[in-house]
Amino acid sequence: MKEKNIFICQECGYQSVRWLGKCPACGQWNSFQLEQETKNNDRQIVFEPPKKLDEIEKEVGEKRIPAGISEFDRVLGGGIVSGSVILLAGEPGIGKSTLVLSVADKIVSSERKVLYVSGEESLSQLKIRADRLKIKNTSDIYFLSNSDIEVIKTVIDDFKPQILIIDSIQLIYNSQLDYSYGSSFQIRETAHFFIEWAKKNNVSIFLIGHITKDGAIAGPKTLEHLVDVVIYFEGESMSNLRILRNMKNRFGPTDEIGVFIMEQEGLCEVPEASKLFLSSRKENISGSAIFPSQEGKRTILVEIQCLVSPGYFNIPRRTFTGLDYNKVNLILAVMEKKYKLNFSSHDVYFNVSGGLKIDEPAVDLPIAIASISSFKEIPTPADAVFIGELSLTGEIRPVPYIPLRIKESVRLGFKKVFIPKISDNISISGIKIFQAEYLGDIVKILFPTEQKQSVKTSNL
Ligand code: TYD
Ligand code: MG
Repeated sequence: MKEKNIFICQECGYQSVRWLGKCPACGQWNSFQLEQETKNNDRQIVFEPPKKLDEIEKEVGEKRIPAGISEFDRVLGGGIVSGSVILLAGEPGIGKSTLVLSVADKIVSSERKVLYVSGEESLSQLKIRADRLKIKNTSDIYFLSNSDIEVIKTVIDDFKPQILIIDSIQLIYNSQLDYSYGSSFQIRETAHFFIEWAKKNNVSIFLIGHITKDGAIAGPKTLEHLVDVVIYFEGESMSNLRILRNMKNRFGPTDEIGVFIMEQEGLCEVPEASKLFLSSRKENISGSAIFPSQEGKRTILVEIQCLVSPGYFNIPRRTFTGLDYNKVNLILAVMEKKYKLNFSSHDVYFNVSGGLKIDEPAVDLPIAIASISSFKEIPTPADAVFIGELSLTGEIRPVPYIPLRIKESVRLGFKKVFIPKISDNISISGIKIFQAEYLGDIVKILFPTEQKQSVKTSNL
């Protein structure tokens, strides 16, 4: 056995033979900790020779367990794959324990025992939550309140659950290790144990992970590489809306989202998210543009809200919630140049209704329209939606899923849609489609006072 000292960045897992003040990989300061790498030179090496495709026996499909909660199943790509390890991450108090317990309640059966291990709550606290969620007292969900991995290991080897929930991975510790509880080394080691155990016993495991304020999973980012699926549960602190988002999925797509509302008796699914997001919308108010955003297979309509107001400080304020900061600034710069809208002397605020985060390029056009609408104090038509990517020259570029987005807009009662110029002519009954090559073409229609200026300054 040979032991080697190495320094590991507790944030991203970068390794160095020397201690470093700043991690060259993730830029974190003071994140290096000494760890010992043990090399076992006497190890017997057992291996299988490499195989060709036709020599590899296919496993009989992945078996999925749907929870019957469609907002949850959709995010996982159709249900929980047996033997998979799912990391459910979110800020404290967002509802992770509630979500996972509700899922457990749906999938539990006499042949499928669920073991819920809590390192942070006592058995009576767990019972209070279960009562609130109206989980049957006779249900085959078993609870254990313990955070010592040696104890958990003994229990699960003996109990043999089919689904295991670890709440939370940051609180489980191994007293044999010389590292403080909650340290990245502890988390990595315990996660490693559960992953191997899941594969060996073909048991699905939920690892609950707390995230820090800036969105990182407290402890090493490396946890995300180890597990099969990473899902984030998000929401604004003042709202009861919750969004489940898939960040990594070895067994399916990652672009689906699930929408829930946290009620007194647990989480309620929101299959008609657009209706909820648009419900508080006031018509004939400037600074609003409706965007049919594409989240996986589903189109969700959201309102892009903008407020432009004269700035009283030297540095104008910019607060963009739910949108990419650099992207919005770039669009504002294009607007300023093309339409002589003096954003640099104004404070600009953006918000996406429902607290959704939008990062697809198709949101550029509604961002631009909402900003002009607020600046000019001219409302956009209440029955219009906007789709399109903007180039720096003010050209509107095509984006994917245009027919799908239009169909959903029609279904929700919208009558006009502004889209990029596309080669194949589309006509969908019930809606007027405006195809525009340049932003100026739309500005001319919606903000007619701009007409003269835009002829002079834009590529009309
Ligand atoms: P919890 O699931 O404990 O959050 P996490 O595991 O992410 O820390 O729930 C968080 C909050 O939700 C808690 O403050 C109480 C509230 N809550 C409800 O509003 N309704 C419910 O049915 C439950 C169980 C919790
Ligand atoms: Mg919890």
